[in-house]
Amino acid sequence: MKILFIGDIVGSIGRDAVAKYLPRLKNKYAVDVVIANGENAAAGRGITRNIYNELLQMGIDIITMGNHTWDNKEIFDFIDDVDYLIRPANFSKDAPGRGVAQITKNDVTLSVINLHGRVFLPPHEDPFAMADELVAEAKKISPLVFVDFHAEATSEKIALGWHLDGKASVVVGTHTHVQTADSRIYPNGTAYITDVGMTGPYDEILGMTKESVIYKFQTNMPARFEVPKKGREVLSAFFVEVNDKTGKAMRQERIYINEDYPFKP
Ligand SMILES: [Fe+2]
Repeated sequence: MKILFIGDIVGSIGRDAVAKYLPRLKNKYAVDVVIANGENAAAGRGITRNIYNELLQMGIDIITMGNHTWDNKEIFDFIDDVDYLIRPANFSKDAPGRGVAQITKNDVTLSVINLHGRVFLPPHEDPFAMADELVAEAKKISPLVFVDFHAEATSEKIALGWHLDGKASVVVGTHTHVQTADSRIYPNGTAYITDVGMTGPYDEILGMTKESVIYKFQTNMPARFEVPKKGREVLSAFFVEVNDKTGKAMRQERIYINEDYPFKP
């Protein structure tokens, strides 16, 4: 199975970048399954039902979330009705939605698990224990398991990557919006990258207009962070080919597209 993961889609520029490049990427890599982090898809904060539908129509199969899951309150109206939107599994037991989804393509089933870090972030349930439990359950269905670990600390992400080496097929980090150059396949067959990076505005600060962020750093005063609607885009993604029988990763590639690093057909 060939899997493409698109890093945090931010606002309309991010969605436009997906529309522009996803068909070319699917073609280039003969992609079977597309997963994307969509927690910033609605103007940087959360996701709406319309945007969920729009992303699926563009060819995304499963959308993962993170710390901004509940920012757009509309999600409470539809998260329990849709099949391909997951939020971190280690949120409270009382949270709506779920943290795992399965997708089957060409008779091969992939489980996708979303987890949340707890270093420099709210103290959710232990993501390591939750990963052990959910990966073991997923493996009863199929050896192919994908984990999106939405976390701030590099160390916590690398630790979960190694912890799941040989258990999950792929572990990706999301949330920091800056792609790391450490993608690899660990010795027991788990493809890993600390952060896939962002898909959104290229000339701003983590997707937010730079003036407001610089003002906040200069003054320590509250600032309204906005996601711009116009400007150049960046698309960050991670491609992995997984063996259908063993669930082990065979090939991985970082993808980073913008005007400085144009798409190569
Ligand atoms: Fe995030």
